[in-house]
Amino acid sequence: MHKDKPFSQACENNKAPILEKLATLFKQPGTILEIGTGTGQHAVHFADRLPHLVWQPTDHPQNAQLCRPWIADSGLANINPPIALNVLDGVWFDLPAIIGAFSANTAHIMVWEEVRAMFLGIGGVLPSNGVFSLYGPFRYGGRHTSESNERFDRSLRAQASHMGIRDIEDLKALGEETGLVLEEDFEMPANNRLLVWRKS
Ligand SMILES: C[S@@+](CC[C@H](N)C(=O)[O-])C[C@H]1O[C@@H](n2cnc3c(N)ncnc32)[C@H](O)[C@@H]1O
Repeated sequence: MHKDKPFSQACENNKAPILEKLATLFKQPGTILEIGTGTGQHAVHFADRLPHLVWQPTDHPQNAQLCRPWIADSGLANINPPIALNVLDGVWFDLPAIIGAFSANTAHIMVWEEVRAMFLGIGGVLPSNGVFSLYGPFRYGGRHTSESNERFDRSLRAQASHMGIRDIEDLKALGEETGLVLEEDFEMPANNRLLVWRKS
């Protein structure tokens, strides 16, 4: 067992409600591509509870190895080794064939050009009718859904001007540009949402 594994309390809190949705979205066997895997807590939780899936973690090259201790300790056979994937780089064609994609808490961290690259890349590798599930906080009509999200947004922008909670309208426009149609928008605990995009 690895001591001092990277740990996110947010992942511990949100993994069960996210799993509940993913279980209904990813019913067929196949490989799910995760963008911005982070600690790997999500990857391990979902791969363990959805054994018909193969989980493919990826992350920015700076963070791509972060998830290895969680994956190693899980002993699960249905998680592939992580791939270093900066969404801006053209490495999307080296990925295994996938049936779906998932990403959590990445859109407000990435530069907008990276969010666009994530949608373009996923739009390119998803099969027709495939689902991309994007979890996180979002704004609607230019308004935050809670005071805590507003505070979080302010703290993100204070850290770096490129970060910030994204507007659903901008994401929808991006989806249209990249062949991804917003099909569902689930309310989740702690003022988060789980957006379901389907490849048209
Ligand atoms: C707030 S963390 C979320 C991690 C994890 N998904 C979670 O929910 O805890 C944001 C993640 O986005 C990744 N990321 C940021 N820019 C990226 C890029 N250009 N390409 C791929 N991943 C990126 C970071 O490396 C980090 O793992």
